[in-house]
Amino acid sequence: MAYEEPKNVLISSEEIQLRVRELAQEIERDYAADAQLHLISVLKGAFIFLGDLVRSMNRQVSLDFMAVSSYGKSTTSSGEVRVLKDLDSGLEGRNVIIVEDIVDTGLTLAYLQEILHARSPKSLKTACLLSKPSRRVVDVKVDYIGFTIEDRFVVGYGLDYAEQYRNLPYLATLD
Ligand code: IMP
Repeated sequence: MAYEEPKNVLISSEEIQLRVRELAQEIERDYAADAQLHLISVLKGAFIFLGDLVRSMNRQVSLDFMAVSSYGKSTTSSGEVRVLKDLDSGLEGRNVIIVEDIVDTGLTLAYLQEILHARSPKSLKTACLLSKPSRRVVDVKVDYIGFTIEDRFVVGYGLDYAEQYRNLPYLATLD
């Protein structure tokens, strides 16, 4: 099948870059008094967000990655969360921020927060590029939100549909 680039731009590359820089500054301010900050990115969707976020930060930061199961080829949540790749190092006594692409039902994030909290970090916060509040089935706290969007399936800037479109520099809707 020929590759077709989605044309329904929801959030432009320029808007994303601006907002990600704002979030980076907000995080820098909030952790100004802390020598150490550890960002945990959830693969694969958050990899571009994390890359841009950390490059906008002018401070010490360490990174780790986790992979959890997501939708696969479907555009509706299965509600199932499985850890496919765990972290390389422990979290005890560290200031941790979970960096996620999107909080939809909240099931993935609620699960992640629970298992990471159990590893005794000094603090645990969450940064999400996107939030779809109308889809929430569990009440989950997100400390930093890039954009609040309606219930649309979005791709680009790390987010995929069946592993496609992650490389788009903007966010587009598919439905
Ligand atoms: P939740 O557990 O329902 O909050 O879903 C979280 C995960 O579902 C995200 O990390 C994404 O991988 C995926 N997801 C949810 N909505 C979208 C979307 O609009 N586009 C692409 N992936 C999505």
